[in-house]
Amino acid sequence: MKNSKITFIGGGNMASSLIGGLLETGVTAITVVDSNPKPLAAKFPIQCYTNYAEALVDTDVVVLAVKPHIMPEVAKSISATLSEPLPLFISIAAGIRLIDLSRWLGVDLALVRAMPNTPAIVQSGASALFAGKYVNEAQKQLAENILRAVGLTIWLEDEEQMDAVTALSGSGPAYFFLIMEAIENAGINLGLSKDVARLLTLQTAFGAAKMALESQDDAATLRARVTSKGGTTEQAINTLQAGNLESLFDQALKAAQQRAVNLAIQFGED
Ligand SMILES: NC(=O)c1ccc[n+]([C@@H]2O[C@H](COP(=O)([O-])OP(=O)(O)OC[C@H]3O[C@@H](n4cnc5c(N)ncnc54)[C@H](OP(=O)(O)O)[C@@H]3O)[C@@H](O)[C@H]2O)c1
Repeated sequence: MKNSKITFIGGGNMASSLIGGLLETGVTAITVVDSNPKPLAAKFPIQCYTNYAEALVDTDVVVLAVKPHIMPEVAKSISATLSEPLPLFISIAAGIRLIDLSRWLGVDLALVRAMPNTPAIVQSGASALFAGKYVNEAQKQLAENILRAVGLTIWLEDEEQMDAVTALSGSGPAYFFLIMEAIENAGINLGLSKDVARLLTLQTAFGAAKMALESQDDAATLRARVTSKGGTTEQAINTLQAGNLESLFDQALKAAQQRAVNLAIQFGED
């Protein structure tokens, strides 16, 4: 990967996270096309352009990192500049199916669809990837290495699972922020100061996630282990379960998945 030339189309938040992570892994040939590339050029030692043709010369990988609604227009413009050997394309745009991207690009080429999430900003993201039919093993490895620069990666066998991934890890950070918000406020209601409630909430969330990641046991086992019969935790868990927390999450993720399906249909109409 270190010798590959990687071109980002769109130099916003997610591209910036990926570029930061890639530079740390030793990749040096990074190019970005953005409507206003100056802030990125000031932040990173990379080449910035405002037009596709120049940036795409000799590129091995193109990372499509523009907002989904402008992807048809961007892909069609790029299509006009493509020449052999064709680069590997990685799209990180939410809700853009490979079949639509391929139609807009207008040629059969190696396409990978990836779904990162916002903790990529602190190199703790979770990205799911799906490889289209023209992607070879070396290109799969390259795509994985690029996304791994900002966190863990996982391959999907079926592109349709991207909608479930969007509902789980794509939107997931917001669910945990909501839970942190609720616990912090509950702590304040019990008489703690805002600062104390915030710090204890965040460190508890971090510690629980770290413990679960490092343990061989599943979350249910870890929870059972810290829930003594007749103790304080049991009282809280009973209250949450009486309020149907699990069923609420089930409904919430189904609603998010359905929205992802509908958005993909809508984006693909172009
Ligand atoms: N942020 C996340 O957590 C996250 C998670 C998963 C997937 N994604 C996906 O990642 C993609 C980028 O998201 P983001 O949050 O990084 O968005 P963003 O910060 O808005 O970045 C998009 C960038 O593309 C630029 N741009 C607009 N039109 C362009 C064009 N024609 N050619 C080149 N660049 C152009 C924008 O410039 P202007 O601002 O001047 O328009 C902006 O700098 C989206 O498709 C999103 O679905 C994001």
